[in-house]
Amino acid sequence: MAKKYDRWQIYYYDEVTSTNDIIKNLCVKANDKIVVCAQKQTAGRGRMGRQWQSLAGNLFFSLALNVDLRSLGTFILMCGLTLCQTIHTLQPMVNVQIKWPNDVLLNNAKVSGMLLEKGPADYLIIGIGVNLVQHPISSDIIYPTTSLSNAGINVTIQQFLKLFLKQFTKNLALLETKTGCATLRNQWLGYVKGLGERLTVRQENQEMSGVFRGIDENGYLMLENDTGICQIRVGDVFYIKES
Ligand code: BTN
Repeated sequence: MAKKYDRWQIYYYDEVTSTNDIIKNLCVKANDKIVVCAQKQTAGRGRMGRQWQSLAGNLFFSLALNVDLRSLGTFILMCGLTLCQTIHTLQPMVNVQIKWPNDVLLNNAKVSGMLLEKGPADYLIIGIGVNLVQHPISSDIIYPTTSLSNAGINVTIQQFLKLFLKQFTKNLALLETKTGCATLRNQWLGYVKGLGERLTVRQENQEMSGVFRGIDENGYLMLENDTGICQIRVGDVFYIKES
């Protein structure tokens, strides 16, 4: 059953393999502004081939959009930014940060993650998981995790989704303006953790450390070390000095 907020069509499911799978089959025949949200995922996916533990009561949803390739880098950052802004709308006093590329940290622990996949035609699929009421506790998890309720933020799946889509719609409109890209990037830089500090990026077969100098126009992480500035496309960030 689809519901409309700000002209987004939201399809709610009881159980799916992954909301990213469902939206891939829907987006071409529906329209641009569709969202798939499920109460349960039996095969939730995370970045870099990992599993996403889909714990009961948390939020799992996917969007499908046709994105202008010229602004893809900024668009991707904008999705993480929107999550931070949504959490700040719910509770302005909490410590919300982005861990490059798109993890959202609440009080220095991961509360949300995002998986981008190529959809059919020119669609980009954006799958988002938010720990609303529970967070995974397991030795497989590479970074500490938390939930919104752990920080005293109590919100339903529907309330969070509605606030997120409202902010996302605003940011999409901003992206269309002349100065929108620069504004969104600056806002993102205001949220990102560790700018100007030393960090380590772990990739499949190597690890690199250096000073985090920002992001380039594609959204790649710029890490400065003895050899100069390296542009890093994919990896997991670890902070050398945790704060
Ligand atoms: C990560 O941090 O590794 C990304 C996690 C993305 C999880 C979401 S939950 C909704 C959507 N469906 C999936 O299978 N994955 C994403």
